[in-house]
Amino acid sequence: MDVLTDTARRFLAATAPEHTPVQSEMADLADEWGFPIVGPEAGAVCRLLARLTDAGRVFEFGSGFGYSATWFLRGGADHVTCTEFDVDEAERGVAFAADHGYADRVTFEVGDAMETVERYDGPFDVALIDHQKERYVDAYRAVLPKVRSGGVIVADNVTRGPIDFETLVAHFEAGDPLPDAAVDAETRGIGEYLGTVRSDDAVETAILPVGSGLAVSTVVR
Ligand SMILES: C[S@@+](CC[C@H](N)C(=O)[O-])C[C@H]1O[C@@H](n2cnc3c(N)ncnc32)[C@H](O)[C@@H]1O
Repeated sequence: MDVLTDTARRFLAATAPEHTPVQSEMADLADEWGFPIVGPEAGAVCRLLARLTDAGRVFEFGSGFGYSATWFLRGGADHVTCTEFDVDEAERGVAFAADHGYADRVTFEVGDAMETVERYDGPFDVALIDHQKERYVDAYRAVLPKVRSGGVIVADNVTRGPIDFETLVAHFEAGDPLPDAAVDAETRGIGEYLGTVRSDDAVETAILPVGSGLAVSTVVR
């Protein structure tokens, strides 16, 4: 289901920023592969967050071929560390960056993002969490100490994706239990993630129901 009415969704799509040439090529590839990119509505938020934080360094958990990274770069970020355990996707990301002249502004780390993040020191200005939903809390805990005060952690797929949104609504509205991890690890992962950031005094969180739904958490410690 979509949390937005069809009219609202069409309005957001019609008013989202135009793709740059490389983003158009990436969107075409995403269509061809059936690959889930954040899309221009959520991309515009990524661009905004980079601009508002005057971002130098951005870290992504789950980058594919670097579509979301291009939005942080459009927002003025100096550099995005992309993580991806699919070699083909990462290689396409490296090729896009080389062909479109931003190879010096992205690094593709092939492997498990949860291991890669341990090899990086902060501070980061922005972190994007967009990999395995059941590992969002682990990613948050790993990256939070590395995001500077005033920086932002943004998580995708909090209203749409491989999740049962109605179950999340019932959990936060009426206190219904989250599904067992063995039954629906993704929905449980997103529910636990939102519960974690909402109860953590280190961040202030707002949910933006654009794209697949973003949880935007500003680091306030
Ligand atoms: C939703 S897609 C990312 C889309 C990307 N953020 C964008 O909008 O352009 C999720 C990606 O994360 C990758 N992924 C999932 N778990 C991962 C992990 N633990 N480490 C590295 N990559 C991972 C998947 O292979 C997939 O390409």
